[in-house]
Amino acid sequence: MLDKIKILRDEVDAFDASGMEEAEAFRLRMLSKKGLIPSLFQDFKSVDPADRKEVGRQLNLLKQAATEKVNSIKARLEAEAESKQSGQKRPDLSMPANFEPIGSRHPLSVTRNRINSIFQRIGFVVSEGPEIEDDWHNFSALNFPEEHPARDMQDTFFVRKNPDIALRTHTSSVQVRVMESQKPPIRTISPGRVFRNEAISARAHCIFHQVEGLYIDQGVSFADMKQCLLYFAREMFGEETQIRLRPSFFPFTEPSAEMDVSCNICGGPGCNICKHSGWIEVMGCGMVDPNVLENCGIDSRKYTGYAFGMGIERIAMNIYQIKDLRMFFENDLRFLRQFESAI
Ligand code: PHE
Repeated sequence: MLDKIKILRDEVDAFDASGMEEAEAFRLRMLSKKGLIPSLFQDFKSVDPADRKEVGRQLNLLKQAATEKVNSIKARLEAEAESKQSGQKRPDLSMPANFEPIGSRHPLSVTRNRINSIFQRIGFVVSEGPEIEDDWHNFSALNFPEEHPARDMQDTFFVRKNPDIALRTHTSSVQVRVMESQKPPIRTISPGRVFRNEAISARAHCIFHQVEGLYIDQGVSFADMKQCLLYFAREMFGEETQIRLRPSFFPFTEPSAEMDVSCNICGGPGCNICKHSGWIEVMGCGMVDPNVLENCGIDSRKYTGYAFGMGIERIAMNIYQIKDLRMFFENDLRFLRQFESAI
């Protein structure tokens, strides 16, 4: 009997399992009701009473060793499985931080946001409209005569050969929509993308961006417009900035003007940025033509208004000293990364 116990004890001591099933099979073979160890307990009855004490002791030790062995192997296997699972989830805090490159705003967005906020601070509300427009909103309502050259195929991209549908050539079309749907007082700016059939060069592109503004109320005057635009120029280009208005023509404004700002690089005396004139052209403006008000259902005897419109590219080129407008559309990261700090 003691020999049998010794053989099993050696087996128990030597046992190890690499998987749960193996450990369970071992338990069943050794410890289950009909297993090897309980069957030794059965045989115990037939042991000589003189040897019983020692045999009983060895037998109990064997059972204890087998139970402990199985339990400790199972516990170890469980812990191993768990750490394998959570090992994937749990972060290794000693690893160096991941470098996640973050994008930055496009310089045109930065400039547009600045223009918007300058006007929003004095009560202008942003309005948006469709990029594909009909003739009425882009031209007719804005007092473009039928034969006006701006309607020519040269300037306008028409959609599917339909002369009534085109890509908008300016965001004044949005202002027509606002005037048609709202009652004065109206104080709105419309930023957006516009399209003109122009040869692409360092100073022109067939797609560019505008912010146009419109203010309509009783008694709005040219002097109000001048004051508003002076405020804008000083907020945008610096508080020393001067403006000047030169007579111009737009079908939808009368009188019309071009606004120049004093060169923000040389401050007036002339440099190669302002082509030695001391002035930089930034926008068109004027008093809304009464025909336009009437076209949009606004009583032109009661209300007057001013409108202005500027190209965002041109302003951004000036502020950031960018020489070639095409850079805005090339998405060259070396260019875009230079605006990482701008918001
Ligand atoms: N819509 C004109 C353009 O695209 C700009 C403008 C707007 C001029 C309002 C005068 C008044 O060039």
